[in-house]
Amino acid sequence: MVKVYTIASGKGGTGKTTVTANLGPMLARYGKKTCILDADVGMANLGLILGLEDLPVTLHEVLAGKARIRDAIYEGPYGVKVVPCGLSLQGFQQSKPERLKDVMADLVSGFDVLILDAPAGISRDGVIPLTIADGVILVVTPEISSIVDSLKTKILTETVGGHVEGAIINRVAGNGDEFNRAQMERLLGVRVLGIIPEDANVRRASAGRSPIVVKYPDSEASRALKRISADVAGIEYTDESVPAKREGFIDRLARALFRAKA
Ligand SMILES: Nc1ncnc2c1ncn2[C@@H]1O[C@H](COP(=O)(O)OP(=O)(O)O)[C@@H](O)[C@H]1O
Ligand SMILES: [Mg+2]
Repeated sequence: MVKVYTIASGKGGTGKTTVTANLGPMLARYGKKTCILDADVGMANLGLILGLEDLPVTLHEVLAGKARIRDAIYEGPYGVKVVPCGLSLQGFQQSKPERLKDVMADLVSGFDVLILDAPAGISRDGVIPLTIADGVILVVTPEISSIVDSLKTKILTETVGGHVEGAIINRVAGNGDEFNRAQMERLLGVRVLGIIPEDANVRRASAGRSPIVVKYPDSEASRALKRISADVAGIEYTDESVPAKREGFIDRLARALFRAKA
């Protein structure tokens, strides 16, 4: 059975497109037939950061009733399929977001996972991706405005009969160790699926038209994104690039004590 996720937030610029552009390829790599769609039809940039520009057919044409969805599917990293939007204002004006539901219905038979990169805010059109998902994933930055706006999106999702799967906390300073996951879960009332640190490689990867998990797989943000992807895929995370944890003083002492007791 296909699973549809919508990557949403209240506030703009929290990292929805970044999460979509990395979660999609990783799920494909983990063996899930995955398609990512740019449902942010007004501020489309999923295609842009994946190097898919100047395309003849995009979701805009499909939502305008001028093309079929199968002609708007392109190949992305690790074999993920990508349905980008065009960049023109005219394309946006002609597209009818209410057609999205039919578009999704056409895709369900070919994929295990569909991921929608949703627009920010709580506009009328922005509600559609929240209603057609099996699970909404909120991308939140650790700022009060982002948390409050995400709470509104959560309430809106539940009001329209949708379900919030969890939240990803993005752009966390440092290594995230001091970050209080439990407090965030209490505030948002949903499970925290993962914490992504602030990492300059995210921007560098976008500038190079590639997801960070492909371009800088060993970076801190990539490790977090891979861990989240494994969680969503329902598999255990093992990162071959992570060196085995070095034994600390306490571990050594405990081992010595155990040996002495035995
Ligand atoms: N973990 C991160 N570390 C550093 N920069 C990030 C991180 N996540 C996102 N960004 C940057 O923040 C900006 C907004 O991200 P984007 O994914 O486009 O947000 P949204 O789709 O929610 O508007 C982009 O310039 C992106 O490169
Ligand atoms: Mg975006």
